[in-house]
Amino acid sequence: MFKIPSFKSFYSQSDVQAVLAVIDRSMFWADGPDIEEFEHNITAFTGVNHALAFNSGTSALLSGLLAIDVKDREVICPSFTFIASANAIELAGGTAVFADCEPDTYGLDVASVAAKITPRTKAVMTIDYGGCVSRDVLALRRLCDEHGLLLIEDAAQSFGARADGAHAGFHSDFAIFSFCQNKVITALGEGGALITNNAALHNKAKYLRSHGRVDEPGKKHFETSVDNEYLFPGYNFRMPSVNAAFASSQLRNIDEHLSRRRKVAERYQANLAGLPMLRLPVPPAGHSHCYQMYTVALPDNTLRDGLREHLLAAGVQVRCYFEPLHHKPYFRNKNPELRLPMAERLGGTVLTLPMFPALRMEEVDSVCQLIQQFFNNATQAV
Ligand SMILES: Cc1ncc(COP(=O)(O)O)c(C=O)c1O
Repeated sequence: MFKIPSFKSFYSQSDVQAVLAVIDRSMFWADGPDIEEFEHNITAFTGVNHALAFNSGTSALLSGLLAIDVKDREVICPSFTFIASANAIELAGGTAVFADCEPDTYGLDVASVAAKITPRTKAVMTIDYGGCVSRDVLALRRLCDEHGLLLIEDAAQSFGARADGAHAGFHSDFAIFSFCQNKVITALGEGGALITNNAALHNKAKYLRSHGRVDEPGKKHFETSVDNEYLFPGYNFRMPSVNAAFASSQLRNIDEHLSRRRKVAERYQANLAGLPMLRLPVPPAGHSHCYQMYTVALPDNTLRDGLREHLLAAGVQVRCYFEPLHHKPYFRNKNPELRLPMAERLGGTVLTLPMFPALRMEEVDSVCQLIQQFFNNATQAV
């Protein structure tokens, strides 16, 4: 056990009551009205026309990629991301083509993407890293439009983030969110959603989510006694009702989640701003960060690993999000010669500090004192 963990889920008694109400109903623990309500809440919050709840961000991403059909096509994506982004492309029958990321928000770099477009490219997938909308999202939108490509936003980490007034995912053909346990809001441990303004894509992903089944109009499968029609092979990627009820309740309280995260970020910023060796996650002008993570970058790998060991030894759980995917066995074997300087640099120099709504200011201060102590020791050693 760590003295200060990297995350802790945050919940209120109303979240618990929402779950108990579903259990007390004794009906529709799956496929209940809570799913549509959660989807409605997501569309209202993000301003995007359609939302689908899934049992994970990964299944939302896979369903979206199957819906746009990337089979035998290339999808340009980051290497500096969580493995699910690229795995979903390969599972959908496509090829993940890695492009480099930009140094400001760590999303895909538009110039690197432009250089990777081929006649086989179907789509571009950027990431809204750690709770910040990707710097190049509008430039990527223009590039995709010029080349007839689809834009996907892996916004798993960025529910609640905005850029120039628009919610994360707003500019993409589809975007996904994760509601697993360390995200801004959680659907009781696991959950995800897909948002899109494209009604056809929404329909296709909805069928894929549930066996390709056509429900009777206005009725849920478990409300009827008829056998249904099945259009094409699909999965069971449905979110259970208790998870949706919990997530809707969390969403009603999202302002508190976000303001607590932002206060933690401000405290880190105030304490660490005097350390020029650390690059802090300051959002670009016009962006509002939701601080799902608080990731700092160090000048080199030796200092990063040294600080990591120093904090771990003191009981502070830190992580290195992310190691580049093109260094992992499956993708390394497919791309042995690939070099992505920025992704590799970030992979060797970033360190994600504890960040969660209930993190106390004294705890933030003690993490920062340990960081200060590490740099004092490092300076004395020179
Ligand atoms: C960038 C990114 N993409 C996709 C996912 C997958 O989401 P889930 O864990 O809900 O399947 C995650 C989860 O952490 C993520 O960070």
